Amino acid sequence: MIRQFIARLEKVVSHSRWLSALYIAPYKKVLDREIAIANVDSDDVVLNIGCGAIPFTAILLAQKTDAFVYAIDRDLRAVKAAQRVVGKYQLQDRIKVVLHDAVEPFSHDVTLAFLSLQAQPKAKIVDVLKETMRPFRLLARIPAQRYQRFYDAFPEMEAKKNAFHNMKAFEKTLYIEE
Ligand SMILES: C[S@@+](CC[C@H](N)C(=O)[O-])C[C@H]1O[C@@H](n2cnc3c(N)ncnc32)[C@H](O)[C@@H]1O
Repeated sequence: MIRQFIARLEKVVSHSRWLSALYIAPYKKVLDREIAIANVDSDDVVLNIGCGAIPFTAILLAQKTDAFVYAIDRDLRAVKAAQRVVGKYQLQDRIKVVLHDAVEPFSHDVTLAFLSLQAQPKAKIVDVLKETMRPFRLLARIPAQRYQRFYDAFPEMEAKKNAFHNMKAFEKTLYIEE
């Protein structure tokens, strides 16, 4: 239910540049911590899985690091809205929004995958990434304890680094490198 609510909310908010900026603002520090634990830089090509209608993860990654981001979503309406938002931010040369379900292998080489809280099924997506990415580098947001039942569980994996956040829905991000 929370997942569907957020997906719908993002589609509504995406129509306004002003509301989109308000929606994105609380994530700026989150992205700073995530970028730091994974050492994301301008040489990276990032696969942002489950970008939603307001692809704030992709936007902040591109703005803060100059990395190239493939922002993917399996929902066509989210993809169209995200393309519009990326255009408003004039980031079309840094972010390509693509309709794609992450359970299928992605057709371009990437150096880092970034799994959104709502992406699912997480275990299958991780298996596909492991088969197709060398080296395997992943950032994955983990829900706060009390919201865990609303999200697909992330498989047991050892994190190289963690970033902790004071956000309602998610408490940390794992950085995994294999
Ligand atoms: C509501 S968004 C939130 C993401 C947020 N805007 C961000 O920048 O991190 C989560 C999206 O994940 C997408 N999604 C869930 N599972 C997916 C999968 N297997 N492949 C691609 N997109 C997926 C949903 O369609 C939804 O639009």
